[in-house]
Amino acid sequence: MPPIVEVQNLVKTYKLDSRTVNALDDISFEVEKGELVSIVGRSGSGKTTLLSILGTMEKPTSGKVVINGTDLSKASSSELVAMRRGTVATIYQDYNLIPVLNAFQNIELPLILKNMDKTERKVKVLELLESVQLSDRGDHKPSELSGGERQRVAIARALAINPKIILADEPTGDLDPEIAEDIIKLLFSINKDLGTTLIMVTHDFNLANRAEKKISLKHGKLISIEETHGQVVEK
Ligand SMILES: Nc1ncnc2c1ncn2[C@@H]1O[C@H](COP(=O)(O)OP(=O)(O)O)[C@@H](O)[C@H]1O
Ligand SMILES: [Mg+2]
Repeated sequence: MPPIVEVQNLVKTYKLDSRTVNALDDISFEVEKGELVSIVGRSGSGKTTLLSILGTMEKPTSGKVVINGTDLSKASSSELVAMRRGTVATIYQDYNLIPVLNAFQNIELPLILKNMDKTERKVKVLELLESVQLSDRGDHKPSELSGGERQRVAIARALAINPKIILADEPTGDLDPEIAEDIIKLLFSINKDLGTTLIMVTHDFNLANRAEKKISLKHGKLISIEETHGQVVEK
């Protein structure tokens, strides 16, 4: 089976006035379907930039990125939108929930975009809320939720599209260690039970070592790809 993610000689350059930032400098790697991958590196190493490109939110300056058989540089904008609605889901560093919508409505949004009908949507959202243990928080707005709960809503919203790939940017960044561990267990169990490919960005080297494959970035360059043992996660 071909890899679900193929990155070849990826370069991303930002130009600011006269300065050029090489956010990603000749990166190549592959991810197999169902794999649990961590991308690790210090702040500023290019992790978020890489995730934005994999999530089809940013375009490469050069190089090739193929996601689930689609070459992103050749895809039309409607194909890219379709990928975001059905193939790749991103869990953002700051959760990116819509403040005026409650948890239920935030999770429902991608289903509305997919034109799912109202009755079916309700069943699905209730199921998703239950799967992240938030059945009693559906009517809470993001400001009425704890950090860990917000992250669970973001995970449920990502799961709503039945993605083949979940991209998670610093999923435990702002959380207390105990809550962080619950979130990691949830993400790892999604990878294991649903077979969803999980690519997780972190600056936490201990967490990164718990993935099956660890990709290390430094100053925009890929410095190593390590196969790690991964860790068996109890549910
Ligand atoms: N939109 C942008 N414009 C200019 N420079 C950027 C932009 N986004 C990121 N950068 C720069 O690219 C580098 C990598 O950033 P980023 O991918 O956010 O790193 P990380 O997520 O590892 O902290 C940094 O030097 C950052 O300042
Ligand atoms: Mg970042």
